[in-house]
Amino acid sequence: MKIVAVLYPGGEIAKKTPELLGCAENALGLTDFLRSQEHEFVVLTDKEAELDKHLPTTDILITTPFWPAYVTKERISKASRLQIILTAGIGSDHIDLAAAAARKITVAEITGSNVVSVAEQVVMHILALVRNYIPAYKQVLDGRWDIAEIAAKAHDLEDKVVGIIGVGRIGQRVCERLKAFDVKMIYYDYHRLSTVEEFALGARYANLDQLVEQSDIITINTPLTPETDGMFNRDLLFRMKKGAYLINTARGRIIDTLSLVEALEKGHLAGYAGDVWFPQPAPKDHPWRRMPNHAMVPHYSGTTLEAQRRYADGIKDCLLRFMNGRRIERDYLIVDNGNVVSPSYSYAFKT
Ligand code: NAI
Repeated sequence: MKIVAVLYPGGEIAKKTPELLGCAENALGLTDFLRSQEHEFVVLTDKEAELDKHLPTTDILITTPFWPAYVTKERISKASRLQIILTAGIGSDHIDLAAAAARKITVAEITGSNVVSVAEQVVMHILALVRNYIPAYKQVLDGRWDIAEIAAKAHDLEDKVVGIIGVGRIGQRVCERLKAFDVKMIYYDYHRLSTVEEFALGARYANLDQLVEQSDIITINTPLTPETDGMFNRDLLFRMKKGAYLINTARGRIIDTLSLVEALEKGHLAGYAGDVWFPQPAPKDHPWRRMPNHAMVPHYSGTTLEAQRRYADGIKDCLLRFMNGRRIERDYLIVDNGNVVSPSYSYAFKT
């Protein structure tokens, strides 16, 4: 079989850091295993021409959200041998799921592999914004010391209303971690939690409009689907409370790019943070790089060294099962047997 993996470039750091499993050089730790089984294993960093060259002869494609190869309908139509697409990480929105389903290509991701990593990052982003960390740190680098300038925009997190959109694996872990800060939590999701679950998480249900209008801080933790694509359009952004903060570690396309810039420039939002962009890598002139009051980073929250180990193990498990004719772990399946089967995606793909 021919297996192609498209992974981020690790460069010199990869040689010194074998635990950096998610990069092309270390190839998820799969090289010896796959070659010993006499499979052809091709690892690419080029997501365009090189990928296109290999696609017609590829049986298994491995991609990652951190360096997404956009597996469009057109690319799928050229990949006549392709049977399975595996996502090293969580979030398979870079793949045209409807086109994969139509061709009966299986799509699977490593569900759960980096949910703690992202939940921790969400808490970090919330604190960075609310406590005005980035401008304070910048003062230190610039040799300045102006307490008034920093303190005038620094707040306690305690007693703030935090709205969590999507209380799946990440959203629930965010709630668990925020409990210690004595915030008031409200959440919105397709799936309303049971009373017992709400009590345990310390969050009560609100519809999307209520959540947007009541929250001091909003964190988005849903997948990118046709329904969440552009969900935070100009109208929703300007319906958020004046001076509220928005955190997005889900996907860049959930937010309308230029409307966000406008909301920050007009001072309607006090800050924005996250690690997800569209496209990725973000071009040098991406408007979010220069907008005011942001605390953005490249897409890395779900690819800590611990997370890379977990999703590398998950990919190996999928490969072994697939090659031995066994079913892929049910929770990993996004598209199976011609249908979008993941509960988090399937709502948006129902016909
Ligand atoms: P999950 O499937 O456990 O939870 C997603 C939740 O969103 C579910 O409860 C689902 O019902 C809800 N949901 C889906 N569509 C919705 C809609 N239109 N409105 C309201 N709720 C909706 O997924 P998990 O593991 O929590 O991950 C969520 C997303 O986070 C991933 O799909 C991915 O896009 C992103 N992610 C980002 C990472 C990063 O490094 N920045 C790493 C891992 C995930």
